[in-house]
Amino acid sequence: MSKPRLLATRPLFEPVRNLLDDHFSMEYWTNPERIPRAELLSRVAGKDGLICLLTEKVDEELLSGAPNLKLAATVSVGFDNIDVAACTRHGVVATNTPGVLDETTADFAWVLIFAVARRLLEGVEMIQSQTWKGWDLDQLCGADVWGKTLGVVGFGRIGRAVARRARGFGMKILYSDALRVAEEVEREASAQYVEFDRLLSESDFVTLHVPLLPSTRHLMSTPQFARMKRSAFLINTSRGPVVDEAALVAALDSGKIAGAALDVFENEPNVHPGLLGRKNAVLTPHIASASLETRTKMAMIAAQNAIALFDGRRPPNALNPDVLEKSRG
Ligand code: GLV
Repeated sequence: MSKPRLLATRPLFEPVRNLLDDHFSMEYWTNPERIPRAELLSRVAGKDGLICLLTEKVDEELLSGAPNLKLAATVSVGFDNIDVAACTRHGVVATNTPGVLDETTADFAWVLIFAVARRLLEGVEMIQSQTWKGWDLDQLCGADVWGKTLGVVGFGRIGRAVARRARGFGMKILYSDALRVAEEVEREASAQYVEFDRLLSESDFVTLHVPLLPSTRHLMSTPQFARMKRSAFLINTSRGPVVDEAALVAALDSGKIAGAALDVFENEPNVHPGLLGRKNAVLTPHIASASLETRTKMAMIAAQNAIALFDGRRPPNALNPDVLEKSRG
């Protein structure tokens, strides 16, 4: 029997390719430029499965042009690039890669917290530009992190991993979420549930860990910045559109908040010009989960989901398992 035909929009990693090549007839997009949309549509047209990145949209147009497609596996935990309802209509199983990137992403939230609070980039720049004149008492004085209040918005796996780390810095930990978590989870993270508005007004660091949904788009906008302390910082490692960038720029310009550290942007790869070149904004290119170990695991999970589906098993990370129920009749 011929192997199912899959398109991967990146070469992935060698161990993952070795596994995929054993099971499938694989086509990899290897060009260093990301795959243009027209190329994606034409290459996926005859395929049985797609392994894609969060930058590729799996939507009605793609699905209706790929009648054999049974799988759309995104190598990311966020799946706002996938129209899951459209996948279900087309009998396509959608999968993501939850779980393996929580700790790595939480580590990076802390990289950002410290970088923005302790003025890391300004210090590095002073050394690199050879303008450092030696130790001085009031040089690059930032804000303490230890002992402050951390506000975690979204208390899923990543938010909790961020909170667990805060205990080591003797911080008070607040969280808000659509639902309050079980008491033992709160205890394990030493975190206290509060309403979102209260979290905003009491936190020194507000860190975002919500998925992008209609209800979380521009969750942080003018009224929310107005509630924050003038000395507080915003950290975003979730999805760019959760923050209204124009409102953030206005809040930074007017001193409504002290600074921001962002790994994600509203219109990636574009960054609001008002965020560029400011000392109180630390900006990184969507790399919170980018350790080699974790990115390899993410790609491996996408491969394992594909193998499970085409072996007739339920993919462990199916986002719309009802498709499988239906196809079994
Ligand atoms: C990265 O942003 C992811 O969703 O995995």
